[in-house]
Amino acid sequence: WVLMVTAQTPTNIAVIKYWGKRDENLILPINDSISVTLDPQHLCTTTSVAVSPTFTHDRMWLNGKEISLSGGRYQNCLRELRARASDVEDEEKGIKITKKDWEKLHLHIASYNNFPTAAGLASSAAGFACLVFSLAKLMNVKEDHSKLSAIARQGSGSACRSLYGGFVKWIMGKEENGSDSIAVQLADEKHWDDLVIIIAVVSSRQKETSSTSGMRETVETSMLIEHRAKEVVPRRIIQMEKAIKDLDFPSFARLTCSDSNQFHAVCLDTSPPIFYMNDTSHRIISCVEKWNRFEGTPQVAYTFDAGPNAVLIARNRKAAALLLQRLLFYFPPQSDTDLNSYVIGDKSI
Ligand code: DP6
Repeated sequence: WVLMVTAQTPTNIAVIKYWGKRDENLILPINDSISVTLDPQHLCTTTSVAVSPTFTHDRMWLNGKEISLSGGRYQNCLRELRARASDVEDEEKGIKITKKDWEKLHLHIASYNNFPTAAGLASSAAGFACLVFSLAKLMNVKEDHSKLSAIARQGSGSACRSLYGGFVKWIMGKEENGSDSIAVQLADEKHWDDLVIIIAVVSSRQKETSSTSGMRETVETSMLIEHRAKEVVPRRIIQMEKAIKDLDFPSFARLTCSDSNQFHAVCLDTSPPIFYMNDTSHRIISCVEKWNRFEGTPQVAYTFDAGPNAVLIARNRKAAALLLQRLLFYFPPQSDTDLNSYVIGDKSI
């Protein structure tokens, strides 16, 4: 027999960024962060997990290619889930798995991103969130989403925020064992449904410095990071929570753009400096800043993660349509800029 579960998890985009760890193994951050989860049909991971007595060892395929599960991050997630597995019974198929059986049974995991992984967008966030969620279902793990978020966190920090839709806060926590470093939902996906997210895929090249090593180098060498983590982010978290609650787009946009810019400033303050944005990213920032200033009130917020791709959040559909017009005029895909496509809702151009 084979027992299988399939789940789908979207990626999330941080508007107050996580950058820097206080514990590398447990993946505990040095500051809280807030993100918005994308619609499930866009930039998501689909994962099928299966168990069978005929499987001889744990195996995983990513986009059809087998990958190693030996890394600490996978092992930490699998160990945490196995420890919490419960009895599973499927009378129709005549399957009975006891809590103890899970220690010996092996798993097969097949994961697909609906977007080229190389574009650096369908990130580890959706991947680990989906892995943990689907395995928890298969193994009848009776924990709530926040407990599962603490397991996904051990796969990749940002993954803990993808277990919820809408706006999500990852509370950094204080405990050394990480038990209070969990994600909570601030508002569900219906709360602010005017917002439209457009992603400008500036480069599909894989990033040169991974988030993991980048943030390690920042913590080791940057003098600004402590000021950011201790002074700036705690204030911004409070302001951002209020802006989200009040649907206050001007404050939301100001905080989102400032936080993205400070995150990249901290990367520049790292030795050797880390450059995630390129000329096209900088031109997109100038274009949005000029437009927002011209309108007198922000129409669009921008944010960039560990790569040059722009995530643009328009205040409503009208602003999104105008933004797209501008982007297509100034940054036509496949032109002399290295911008290749836009992802808008379910449409790619
Ligand atoms: C810039 O979650 O990819 O996207 O925990 O080492 O796996 P690890 O890092 P990761 O870092 C994400 C950094 C970011 C900001 C964010 O998503 O908050």
